[in-house]
Amino acid sequence: MGIWSGRFSKELDSIASEYNSSIGVDHVMFREDIEGSKAHAKMLSECDIISKEDEELIINGLDGIKSDIENKTLEIDMKAEDIHMFIETELTKRIGDAGKRLHTARSRNDQVVTDLRLYLRNLITEIESEIVMLCESIIAKSEQNIDSIMPGYTHLQAAQPVTFAHHLMAYCQMLIRDLSRFRDAKTRLNESPLGAGALATTVYNIDRHRTSELLGFNKPMLNSMDAVSDRDFVIETEYCASMTMMHLSRLSEELIIWSSQEFGYIELDDAFTTGSSIMPQKKNPDMAELTRGKTGTVIGITMGMITTMKGLPLAYNKDLQEDKKGVFEVIDILSKTLKVTRGMIDTLKVNSDTMKAKANNGYIVATDLADYLTEKGMPFRDAYKIVGGIIKKASEEKKNLEDYGIEMYREFSEVFDTDLFEAISLEKSLSRRAVYGGPSPVAVKKQIEETKKILSKTKES
Ligand code: ARG
Repeated sequence: MGIWSGRFSKELDSIASEYNSSIGVDHVMFREDIEGSKAHAKMLSECDIISKEDEELIINGLDGIKSDIENKTLEIDMKAEDIHMFIETELTKRIGDAGKRLHTARSRNDQVVTDLRLYLRNLITEIESEIVMLCESIIAKSEQNIDSIMPGYTHLQAAQPVTFAHHLMAYCQMLIRDLSRFRDAKTRLNESPLGAGALATTVYNIDRHRTSELLGFNKPMLNSMDAVSDRDFVIETEYCASMTMMHLSRLSEELIIWSSQEFGYIELDDAFTTGSSIMPQKKNPDMAELTRGKTGTVIGITMGMITTMKGLPLAYNKDLQEDKKGVFEVIDILSKTLKVTRGMIDTLKVNSDTMKAKANNGYIVATDLADYLTEKGMPFRDAYKIVGGIIKKASEEKKNLEDYGIEMYREFSEVFDTDLFEAISLEKSLSRRAVYGGPSPVAVKKQIEETKKILSKTKES
């Protein structure tokens, strides 16, 4: 019966006890629980609510428990209700009455949410550095491929020439926004619920600003009922992860397509692919496929948590205990996905000849041909129509644009001259797209420089 033996005359049913317990999930927060309790004890003694001697006993006791768990001389009892109860019980076993005083002016409701905020704050910081490292890998691969021409697609139909660098760098920009989303989420998460008590604070004259400061929070939360009962910071973390996973999933989908025999644009390294048990020729992009698959899991968990929250009256309800399992899994998946994606990017080989050959095939300079006529004074819509006719003819005759001499073009318009062939070369088409944010090698170099600056700034802050 433990802690609430006063009110109860029966032990909890064994199935109910198992159902109720969250230690299987929340035991990972033992350090944060101890950190939170130490700050609380220090504040209690500074406010003369417990004695200095009790504070010292508590702090030494908690430090002992922490190192004993870390060196595995203390095993966490998986039958305990949660990590908070386990640590408090263990502390009381070790230091007696002082241990029982620790919970003065505190409830598990403010304790658990304090621990979770501390824990997620650390996890998000790790995720942020993983995102930065992936961006750096993408930049390195892009720098080697500034001149690797490939078809850019819309509707997965060859559209206009771009480079492999420009295509990859698009993902880098998405990841930088993901990074800023996590940072922003971390700012909102970084407020202290400690001292909110069960829901209505406490009658003791505690100093919530002090515990907030001791734990590195920006400030104590302004409303005690909000502090113990909302989990928007959990959902927001999951949402940021979902968005990042969605980006990684799209990149993975492209890695899968590009490494197929039909495309052959890249080869994924042996270390990030698997073979088939039956077909010896196979090299399967499992990591990329799993990224796509796990993205579904992450989005599902996010939807699950927001659904769990939507009907809960204030303040704490035990439903909230469901918050941790999902968000821990989400962060674990995201962290591993960022690492595995970095591995794939670092080691993939680019077949730039194949990319360029494909770019030469799909009439992807058709827009340039129309722009050529437009520059000579023809209205764009007329030029578009004429070029459409030329493409129709060429595709019926299964020929490329440069397979024809000037006479054929003249049949469509007198405006055509031999300089058209330069205008429709892939290199020219590309180098002319030098607008800010464009795919020309010059513009991509600028993009990379600017991106590097943004990244080094985020590293400083
Ligand atoms: N294990 C609980 C959780 O994760 C701790 C809070 C329990 N509070 C309570 N009033 N029963 O949410």
